[in-house]
Amino acid sequence: MFIFSNTAAMKLYSILFVLAAILKFSDSCLIGDYSLDGFCDPYQQAWQVDTGNGIEQYKELKAVCVLKNKCSPTDPAAFFFAYSADLDKWAFTDIYIQHSKIDNGTATKFAIAATVRFDTKVKEDIVFHESDTYFDSRLTGYQYMLDQAENPPQRFDSWETGSDILDVLERFVDSNHPSICGSMVLIAMRRSPNEVDILRIVEKLRENQITVIIASLATPPSYGLHPETMYDLAAKTNGFCALSPHHVLSASHTAPNVVAPYIVYSLNLKVSGTGTMVLPTILFPDTFTVHLSVAVQSTCKAKSFQSLKFSFRNKELGASGSVEKTREELRYSYEYIRNSFKVSNFLLAEPTFFEFTLDYNYTMEDTIQIRLISERGIGHWFPYQD
Ligand SMILES: *[C@@H]1O[C@H](CO)[C@@H](O)[C@H](O)[C@H]1NC(C)=O
Ligand SMILES: *[C@@H]1O[C@H](CO)[C@@H](O)[C@H](O)[C@H]1NC(C)=O
Repeated sequence: MFIFSNTAAMKLYSILFVLAAILKFSDSCLIGDYSLDGFCDPYQQAWQVDTGNGIEQYKELKAVCVLKNKCSPTDPAAFFFAYSADLDKWAFTDIYIQHSKIDNGTATKFAIAATVRFDTKVKEDIVFHESDTYFDSRLTGYQYMLDQAENPPQRFDSWETGSDILDVLERFVDSNHPSICGSMVLIAMRRSPNEVDILRIVEKLRENQITVIIASLATPPSYGLHPETMYDLAAKTNGFCALSPHHVLSASHTAPNVVAPYIVYSLNLKVSGTGTMVLPTILFPDTFTVHLSVAVQSTCKAKSFQSLKFSFRNKELGASGSVEKTREELRYSYEYIRNSFKVSNFLLAEPTFFEFTLDYNYTMEDTIQIRLISERGIGHWFPYQD
């Protein structure tokens, strides 16, 4: 293990799974199969490591570049459900039931459920439902929400009032509960925030590896001023933003959930016009099933998305596959589409390199959120993207 002082250009990342050959300029040498500390850039996949002779720059290193974190993806964490007072009772309870569900006795990374109602005139407390197991905590949380619904909230009066969800997230992190790091937040909402600047909250969420999943109702009239803020927040936390013009529950179905919470590959891709993009490859640590969630555009109303095709290929195994979606397939009405879809069992991961490509057809600029998710993790957090 080597640690050396920071440079302006690169942050300290941990280089994991050094597999085989390192090509140093024209020579090649073997480091072996272990982890080391060094500077690397998770997007360029460029490397600076100290193998005992001072810092050396390598052209090629068969390794995975990850940030050193406060917690690992498998550490016990919270499932935090935040639901807006704008939604009716059955909308939010159904989402909670379906999204947080595990069978009694099933192993899970989640240790506790926490809940809060927001977008109320008087702010309500975030409650961690302390219990011996996540299974019991989740049931206690459900009963708590039913009891709370007996006591209807004071909703905001005006459609222009912004959602206070960003404040809720800040209070969640600042609670310093021992299960904060690595938690999954599911937000069921309708009203958008009035803020656009999310720099500070994103930094706090990233420090704690908190994944923000959003299920939002996007029917007119729109409440709050900046719907793109939530899409941006999901993008920056390797989360997911699912919008439905019809029913908030159907939005939540396309997102990662408690059963398969691990994000093993995550990209936010800015696209416009038509084209093909060759995406970063990934090396999976072993054999497991991988599901796919894709958000095709940042609102339900924009006319930008026409079609996309996401494909994978594995040369070593001779395996390949793809999914294609058109605007027509996501259409809800003349004006609106669902912004996302999910493909269960999209591919079977094997401990080899997978290549991905994206073909796209858009009439305007938009950002696509691509997430490969799984019931099990890959030993490290996938790097964030700005
Ligand atoms: C969950 O399983 C435990 C242990 O088998 C059992 O004691 C408990 O009653 C079960 N809870 C429910 C709600 O079924
Ligand atoms: C893009 O989609 C539009 C609308 O469906 C279609 O007319 C056009 O031919 C497509 N362009 C390409 C290059 O496939």
